[in-house]
Amino acid sequence: MSAANIVIALTKGRILEETLPLFEQAGIVPGEDVFTSRKLLFDTNLDNVKLMIIRGSDVPTYVEFGSADMGVAGKDLILEYGDEGFYEPLDLKIATCRLMTAEPIGAKPARDRIKVATKFTNIAKKFFAEQGKQIELIKLNGALELAPSLGLADAIVDIVDTGKTLTANGLEPKDLIAEVSSRVIVNKAAMKIKNAVIRDILGKLRKAVENKHS
Ligand code: PRP
Repeated sequence: MSAANIVIALTKGRILEETLPLFEQAGIVPGEDVFTSRKLLFDTNLDNVKLMIIRGSDVPTYVEFGSADMGVAGKDLILEYGDEGFYEPLDLKIATCRLMTAEPIGAKPARDRIKVATKFTNIAKKFFAEQGKQIELIKLNGALELAPSLGLADAIVDIVDTGKTLTANGLEPKDLIAEVSSRVIVNKAAMKIKNAVIRDILGKLRKAVENKHS
């Protein structure tokens, strides 16, 4: 019997640069240079494995609905999408950062309803609700750090890596919402139907992660 066909959705951009070496260690190598090609779907050295290279925010959707059997996405985007529609069996420990709230440096604690700008609206809604805080959400897709200084918001929820973007915009990190890294997610039906191939890939990726950190 030939091995089941597997489509793996990878997040493009910076995460991809850290993802591909782990996949190479696991024996999966794209057939051409994914950084220069305009293609979205790539053959690999393995006849039964194809790689899709897409936006991170779309990876959970493709995996939940089964167009991709597996995917690699940041925990931030997985939390924002909702993590019930697929399995999350492996932490690749790459693209690590923190999802945090941030406010203008020295800002006084707000007494009532604060305005929070973010692209992570579901995460922010849940986090502030758990804190018992009333907020008004302002959805932005980028340059969030500008929102407080321009009077659009009192606080933001965003990814913090080095913290330089916050500092450069007069902001300071406040509450940690989640530690973020890239995770492998797997479609629930595929995990059953294509179990042998998926377990094999997961096992090899797990070894690659262990080797990198040993
Ligand atoms: C992220 C995030 C911050 C920045 C934080 O943006 O939105 O702007 O990185 O990094 P730092 O703490 O090291 O300064 P990214 O460049 O990933 O692009 P994005 O705006 O598309 O999220």
